[in-house]
Amino acid sequence: MSVAHDRRRHVHIETFGCQMNEYDSELVRALLTREGFVLTEDRECADVILMNTCAIRENAHTKVYTHLSDLKALKKSRPLVVGVLGCMAQNLKGELTKQEPLVDLLAGPDSYRQLPTLIRNAVHAQEQGEHRKTLAVDLSEYETYDDIVPLRVPGVNAWIAVMRGCDNFCSFCVVPYTRGRERSRDPQSILEEARRIAGNGFKQITLLGQNVNSYRSGEWDFGRLLTAVADIPGIERVRFTSPHPKDFPPSLLEAVVSHPKICKHIHLPAQSGNDRMLSLMNRTYTKREYVALVEKIRSMNRRVVLTTDIIAGFCSETEAEFSDTYRLLEEVRYHSAFIFLYSERMNTIAARKFTDDVPLEVKSQRVTALVELQRRISAECNREYLGETLPVLVEGDAKKSHLQAMGKSDGNITVIWNKTDLACSPGQVVACSIYDASASTLYAKALGISVSSPSKSEHSCTNFVQP
Ligand code: 5AD
Ligand code: SF4
Repeated sequence: MSVAHDRRRHVHIETFGCQMNEYDSELVRALLTREGFVLTEDRECADVILMNTCAIRENAHTKVYTHLSDLKALKKSRPLVVGVLGCMAQNLKGELTKQEPLVDLLAGPDSYRQLPTLIRNAVHAQEQGEHRKTLAVDLSEYETYDDIVPLRVPGVNAWIAVMRGCDNFCSFCVVPYTRGRERSRDPQSILEEARRIAGNGFKQITLLGQNVNSYRSGEWDFGRLLTAVADIPGIERVRFTSPHPKDFPPSLLEAVVSHPKICKHIHLPAQSGNDRMLSLMNRTYTKREYVALVEKIRSMNRRVVLTTDIIAGFCSETEAEFSDTYRLLEEVRYHSAFIFLYSERMNTIAARKFTDDVPLEVKSQRVTALVELQRRISAECNREYLGETLPVLVEGDAKKSHLQAMGKSDGNITVIWNKTDLACSPGQVVACSIYDASASTLYAKALGISVSSPSKSEHSCTNFVQP
């Protein structure tokens, strides 16, 4: 049923958390507009505010609660339906049973097809002055939203979720509970989507999945899929996130290191450098196996940029065990690392079986030590680019100044240059000569615009036209 006969409801969507949530918001936008809802960027004009939420760590939770309490005043001043989507929907069920709950509807990650109905019911109930609340939080073994074309924000990069859910049950992680079992999409529907994306002018595709490299559909594994997407004409770069170290067969490594359009960047979440911690975390690899994978990648192509995720202060982590993680960072020398303080999540294996016994102060000290170490290593890695010329995909203005442009190297490093160097627009590939580097950014002189697709590694930057 369409809402076209009714006053067209204006919906404002706010997205928190990971890239998969950004992608899911694009799916929700598509599902709502085809049912006659109108999307608005302005929450003041909205009849419905939806928050697409993240539950991975406590600070993600806190952010959502803060935003929710901001909405209280707004809701008192006019009729407004507030919905919570995504990973926190499960946790907020209790909210709905309150006398005057702030939240009117909840929809988990597998229930977005029901959203138009849920919203209509919530609006209707509110108009009747009823406290009837709606929720759909069941997880599905099959839902992949295969047939839904996401409503993408135009730009340089387009995301495609190739699989959803996770079966790994890392003991600290809530994702298998909030997003359910692993399921992969049909490869032909992914390739069709990728071709449409290329036709719409996007230059980069990022393949997404909670455990992206465990993708499997019949004869198709992730390496085959990645290569097929990278072979589509018009796409300059293909990235993927987030992989698990256990799923890197030689064929996938070969594809990453040798295909000219697959970016030379692998995010390789380690979580810890200590075997007892890795076993408690249920990561299924030892430090030695992990480092062997790093060495294999580097032996195939030493310029592949490696990044990681680390958790500090997991249950019962001793000072010596923490030092193993510190040493892992020194040994691998990642280009960058996301370093998280362990935060216990409800229902996880760790919450049920282990004690969250590392004091907050100690966790914070460990995070600080790792962040400081990583900053130094990142700055050193970036300085290795001084004097080199890299192909950079232009994204737009630099954050800090509209007089500067910003783009990403093949290895996903931010590069900044003065716009006076040359005229360029988002989606073009620019040859950038690097003259300075900080821990997070390369500073460059832009030399010219590429006339061909990106080169085989960060290093061969030929075939550019001068401005
Ligand atoms: N506490 C801290 N960090 C976590 N992550 C996942 N769950 C938790 C948690 N409970 C981190 C992991 C993962 C990244 C996406 O978030 O490092 O790789
Ligand atoms: Fe969570 Fe582990 Fe699955 Fe990643 S692989 S989503 S950390 S359970």
